[in-house]
Amino acid sequence: MDKDAAQLRAEKLREEIRYHSYRYYVLDSPVVSDGQFDALVDELRAIEAEFPDLVTPDSPTQRVGGAPAEGFVKVTHPAPILSLDKATSREEIFAWYTRISKLLPADAPTPTFVVEPKFDGLTVVLHYHNGQLVQGATRGDGRVGEDITVNLRTIPAVPLRIPVAPDGPQPPATLVVRGEVLILLKDFAALNQKLAAAGEATFANPRNAAAGSLRQLDPRITAQRPLHLFAYSIVAADGPTPPTQRESLAYLRALGFPQPEEIATCETLEAVSDYCFGMHARRPNLGYEADGLVIKINDLATWTALGAVGGRPRAAVAYKFPAQEAVTRLRDVEFSVGRTGVVTPTALLEPTPIAGVTVSRASLHNFDFIAERDIRIGDQVNVKRAGDVIPYVTGPLPDLRDGTERAIAPPQTCPACGDPVVQPEGEIAYYCFNAACPAQLTQKLTYFTHVLDIEGLGDRTAVQMVELGLVKDPADLYYLTKTDLLKLEGFADKKADNLLEAIAQAKERPAARLLAALGLRGVGGVAAGALLAAFPSLDDLAAAPEESLATVEGIGPITAHNVKAWFSHGHNQALIEKLRKIGVRLAAEVKAPAAEPSGPQPFAGLTFVITGALSQPRDEIQAWIESLGGKVSGSVSQKTSYLVAGADAGSKYTRAQALGVPILDEAQLKEIGNQGREGEGERGRGGDKKATSPDS
Ligand code: IVH
Repeated sequence: MDKDAAQLRAEKLREEIRYHSYRYYVLDSPVVSDGQFDALVDELRAIEAEFPDLVTPDSPTQRVGGAPAEGFVKVTHPAPILSLDKATSREEIFAWYTRISKLLPADAPTPTFVVEPKFDGLTVVLHYHNGQLVQGATRGDGRVGEDITVNLRTIPAVPLRIPVAPDGPQPPATLVVRGEVLILLKDFAALNQKLAAAGEATFANPRNAAAGSLRQLDPRITAQRPLHLFAYSIVAADGPTPPTQRESLAYLRALGFPQPEEIATCETLEAVSDYCFGMHARRPNLGYEADGLVIKINDLATWTALGAVGGRPRAAVAYKFPAQEAVTRLRDVEFSVGRTGVVTPTALLEPTPIAGVTVSRASLHNFDFIAERDIRIGDQVNVKRAGDVIPYVTGPLPDLRDGTERAIAPPQTCPACGDPVVQPEGEIAYYCFNAACPAQLTQKLTYFTHVLDIEGLGDRTAVQMVELGLVKDPADLYYLTKTDLLKLEGFADKKADNLLEAIAQAKERPAARLLAALGLRGVGGVAAGALLAAFPSLDDLAAAPEESLATVEGIGPITAHNVKAWFSHGHNQALIEKLRKIGVRLAAEVKAPAAEPSGPQPFAGLTFVITGALSQPRDEIQAWIESLGGKVSGSVSQKTSYLVAGADAGSKYTRAQALGVPILDEAQLKEIGNQGREGEGERGRGGDKKATSPDS
C-alpha cells in the first residue's frame, strides 16, 4: 500500500473504530463482534507501524503511551467544580425546594426536575479543544485539581475526539465536561478475581479500585483496569450549549459521552420524591455504585439565577440513600493465610444488621489500611455494605474511645503454621513463606482441583486431607489410594471411587491447564496458555532464561521473574518430578504428523471451537476431534469451521452467530464424525445442511 492509500485507510479505520466504540459504550448496542472490532484495531496498528508519521494523537491506538510520571501537575479549573447540598428524607427534599423557591426570579419558568444517579466514583474534568481531548483533571479542592490526562486517555469510554460518531453534533471550540470515573460492579468482581489469581492485593470496593487505578503514576497500569465514565454536566464552553440539564445530557450523549439508563424527568416535586424512594429497590440492580440521586432543576438559566452558596449550587441537591452502613464494635481481628502465603486481616464484629443482613465479619483489607486509619481492637467502627461486595470496615470513630482499645499489629508468626511472617521490601502485604504451611496448602489444593476440574473435592475435604497428612503438595493427590480416601469424613466406597476416577482423568488435562493450576504468581489461564505455546513443555519452561520468558506475549518482566524463581525452587522441582513419575501430562500435545493418520480423518482441515456444558469433559471431546484429524481452537474467528455448543453457551455462541460460523450440538458433531468415519464425504464451513444456521 502506498502512503496516500495508507492514510486514507487509516482515517477510515479510525472513524469506524470510533463509531463502534460509540455503539458499545454509549448506545450499549454493538453491531460488530469483539473479534471484528479487534481486527479493525489490528489493521490500524499495522498501518501505523509501517507509516509511523501517519499516527495522530486521537488515534484509538494511542490510548496508552508514555512512561511513569514523577508526580501529577496541578491545574486550575476554568470554573469552580462545585459540591452539593444533601437531603436524606422526603421532608428535606421539600425543605430544599421551599428554600430556593423564594429566590426564584419572577420570570423563571415553573421548575421541572431531572433526577440522576449520584455515582460513587471520582469526579473528573475533561477539556476538549477543537474536538480533541487536551486535558483531564481530578476535582481536587474544587478550584485546583491534578492533571491525569495520560490516565484518562486509557479509558475506552473517554472520547479522545468528539463527536465520536460521524453524524454527532459539532461541539464549540472549547468544551469542558464534568463526569465521574468508576468501575462497573461486574468488572470489579472480575478485576479482583484477576488480582487474586495473580497473587496480588485485591481492592476493598469499586470506589477504592477506581481511585487507585486513576491516580496511578504509571498509565500502563491504569490501562489494565476496567474504568468507565459517566458524564453529567458542561462546566464551560465558548459557544452555544443546551439550555436545560436534560438537553445537556442528550447533547453529551450525542457527542459520545456515556450516560446511565437511570435518568428521570419529573414535573413535580412529589414525582421526584416518589422516584427517589422507588430507586431504593432498584439500587442493587444498578450495575454500578450510587450512594444516592442528584435532583437538579432542569432549566439551566435558573441555575445561574439561583447561584451557589458555600461552593454548592442552590439549583441541585443530593438525595442520599439510607446508609448501607452501621457502627459497631470491632471485637477482634482474625488472620488468615491465602494460597500465595499473603496474611489477610478480617474484622470480627459485634453482630449488627445492615440493610437487612446481620454482619459479624468484615474485610479490613490489609495492614497498611489498618495503620492509615488507625483502627484498633475495641473501637467503634463504621462498616459498609455495597452491592454484592463483601462488607468492609471504612474506619474507626476515635471520639468514642475509652482507652481500653488495643493497636492491631501484623502477626509475627503465621496463624496456621507458626513460621515467621515477613513483609518483603516494597510490598504492602505480609507473607508466610513456608511452602508446607497447611493453610496455604489447603488453598493451593482447592485452587488446583478447581482449575483442573476435579469434581468431588471440596474445601472441607481439602482441609482434612492436609490435616491427616495425606497430601503435602498438589502432586500427592495423584498418589492417593482408596484406603486414604476412606479415612475422610463422609467418604464411602462409591464416593472414593468417583474421586479417584476424577483425579486419574485430570492427569490427561493439557499441560497449560496444569501450569495454571499450579498457581504461579501472575500465571492464570491465559498466561499459562501463552507460555506453553512458546515453550512446548514444563521442562522447556523451567530451562528458559528469564529474558526469553519476558518476550512471550502478555508476560511482563515481573511474571517472567516469578516463573523463573518458581522453577528454581527445589521444592517445586520435586513437585514436578512427582507429577512426571505418576504420568501427569507435562508437555503440550504434539500434533500427530499429518502424513500418517492413524485412521479415517473426516475432520481433516476443519477447526472446531467448543463451548458450553457438554456431556463429556471438553478434553475428551477435543481428543476425539483430533483423533479424526480436526483441530480445536480456543476462540471463534473467520477460520473456525464449526462451533460445538453445549448448554449455557455464552459469548462464543454470539460471536459464531455474528461471523456466520455454523453451530453444532454434541449429537450433530458425533453424527458427522461417525458418518465421516464410514467414508461418507467431507464437509467444510457452511457446507453442512444439518448445522444449525445462526438465524434459523
Ligand atoms: S452534579 C454543579 N451530578 O457527587 C454540579 N454530581 O458532592 C454539581 N456526583 O463529587 C454536581 N454523580 O462529582 C452531579 N449525577 C451527578 C453526580 C454528581 C456524582 C458527585 C460530584 C461530587 C459529589 C457531590
